[in-house]
Amino acid sequence: MDINAAEFDRMAREVFAPVYPVLAEQIISQFGISRGTCLDIGCGGGYMGLALAQITELETILFDESQDMLKLAQGYILQSGLEARVKTLPGDVHDIPLADESVNLAVSRGSMFFWKDRVKAFREIYRVLALGGVAMIGGGFGNTDLLREIEEKMHNIDPEWKEKRRQRIGQTKVQEYRAELEQAGIPTFEIRQDETGLWIVIRRTA
Ligand SMILES: C[S@@+](CC[C@H](N)C(=O)[O-])C[C@H]1O[C@@H](n2cnc3c(N)ncnc32)[C@H](O)[C@@H]1O
Repeated sequence: MDINAAEFDRMAREVFAPVYPVLAEQIISQFGISRGTCLDIGCGGGYMGLALAQITELETILFDESQDMLKLAQGYILQSGLEARVKTLPGDVHDIPLADESVNLAVSRGSMFFWKDRVKAFREIYRVLALGGVAMIGGGFGNTDLLREIEEKMHNIDPEWKEKRRQRIGQTKVQEYRAELEQAGIPTFEIRQDETGLWIVIRRTA
């Protein structure tokens, strides 16, 4: 993926920052997974994984293919004082360098739109999920108030943003992601789509 790490990180801090703690609260209250291993896939600066680690006891892995992003993430780990529980890991979602069934909670925000082969990536994520584990993959903004705030800010930065968002996480994408998950042979999944985002929830139940 062609991404300017510093530029994306500035946007994450200046525009998206309020979203991460809101999503983290929603994820923990919905799935109740607050111990074990958490994997933040395509973590960028690591804000999602760090927000989860801040409110849980999760051992958190910030995983990304970009060394530049991981360098930024490492700085934020140190700033947060969570270095005993939060680590970075370089690698590609299509070939996750972790053992089978070793992850209790996988999260991925804003990354799957850039994956070259989502079918393969979904299989990899399912492979590393532990029994009882959940993966939440997609894109979203937490609630409608936050979405409106961000829409306003993003309109000034990129007038096309609203349309790009619709193309990635709009209702029309649900069928495409469903077909990919079925092709990947994922036995238990759901796709949640509303105005605030689109999330794929994968569970390993057996
Ligand atoms: C738009 S950023 C989102 C960052 C972060 N999740 C957030 O919400 O702030 C997408 C991230 O996905 C990472 N990424 C893209 N393709 C990847 C792949 N195949 N394997 C691992 N990371 C990937 C990029 O390097 C980038 O950091």
